[in-house]
Amino acid sequence: MGQFIKAAEPGEVQPGKMKLVEVDRREIALCNVDGQFFAVDNICPHQGAPLCEGELDGNNLWCPWHGASFDVRNGAVLSPPAYTPIASFPVRVTAGGVEIEV
Ligand code: FES
Repeated sequence: MGQFIKAAEPGEVQPGKMKLVEVDRREIALCNVDGQFFAVDNICPHQGAPLCEGELDGNNLWCPWHGASFDVRNGAVLSPPAYTPIASFPVRVTAGGVEIEV
């Protein structure tokens, strides 16, 4: 079991948006899908693009470089050229903020 670490203030990431956060020396893309938060690795496994600079369309995160896409709910690959899933992390919202378990 990891520990939950505060990554953002409530309201800092609006629905349909994402933000790069650093938690425990890891770069993580914190995504808001219709008010629900998800956290995935920020680095695309294809050639290392920063995924937080891509597009978030519903649950679908599009890589900014070559258009691979991932499901932010679980990190699964939805379309190539990436074939390796990205790590996903549990998220909880408390009075203190949005916390990610790493
Ligand atoms: S670096 Fe992400 S698809 Fe190529």
